[in-house]
Amino acid sequence: MSEEQRGDGDRDRVIAGNWKMHHGPAQGQAFVEALPEPPEGVRVLLFPPAVTLPALHASVRSSGLPIGLGIQNLHHEVSGAFTGEVSAEQAAEAGAECALVGHSERRQLFGETLDETARKVGAAYRAGLTPVLCVGETLAERSQGRLEEVLDRQLDAVFSPPTLREQSRELEVLVAYEPVWAIGTGQTATPDDADEAHRFIRARLGELLGEAHARRISILYGGSVKPANASELLAVPDVDGVLVGGASLDPRSFAAIAASE
Ligand code: PGA
Repeated sequence: MSEEQRGDGDRDRVIAGNWKMHHGPAQGQAFVEALPEPPEGVRVLLFPPAVTLPALHASVRSSGLPIGLGIQNLHHEVSGAFTGEVSAEQAAEAGAECALVGHSERRQLFGETLDETARKVGAAYRAGLTPVLCVGETLAERSQGRLEEVLDRQLDAVFSPPTLREQSRELEVLVAYEPVWAIGTGQTATPDDADEAHRFIRARLGELLGEAHARRISILYGGSVKPANASELLAVPDVDGVLVGGASLDPRSFAAIAASE
């Protein structure tokens, strides 16, 4: 979707599920069969493992549920001798409309660099996918008072290069703030922590892409989101949605998060 088609200031509420390395094709299909219709006005996205994407795409289509699909990672080239990798174009052909880029597990466990996140965002744009850029600090960085420096570095890498800056003003991009210390730990950022980080991210996006544009970018919070804490996080003005790991694996808890007030 181009930015012109989107209303100024009216940001989507996005409820996204990152299945990580869970749910093969059969489990993906069973999930869709058990998922209730999401409430009006909520944009639901699921990021299954790459091998699950085609089956999930088929079941979402036959269910008629308004669910968008994405890939969890991609290679920046279109095709080539890159064993084990998947390109943005191949993900799009398999039914993806979005791509997670720079998830902290990619950065920390697989050594993904800032430069690679920038190239992957460019590849997503090239293939017509909406990138969901994940940013966030580790516990050590937070306790050293380096939250803003880390977020700056991760945002700058993607939105400062002139071509990406231009494309990011024209094409849709989402940002997910995921403090690394809150991912899969059961420890959630407080609404105040999320408020501080999301306001900082939006201000920085304003400097990089222009304020009017930054106001239209949905910024999701991720890190131990559950049905019990989703509402208070979603009530924070700059939290436009959530990116859910563990609690997105069960259709009931994911639906409960999607139905949060
Ligand atoms: P979690 O994962 O909800 O299990 O903490 C979130 C994420 O990694 O996107």
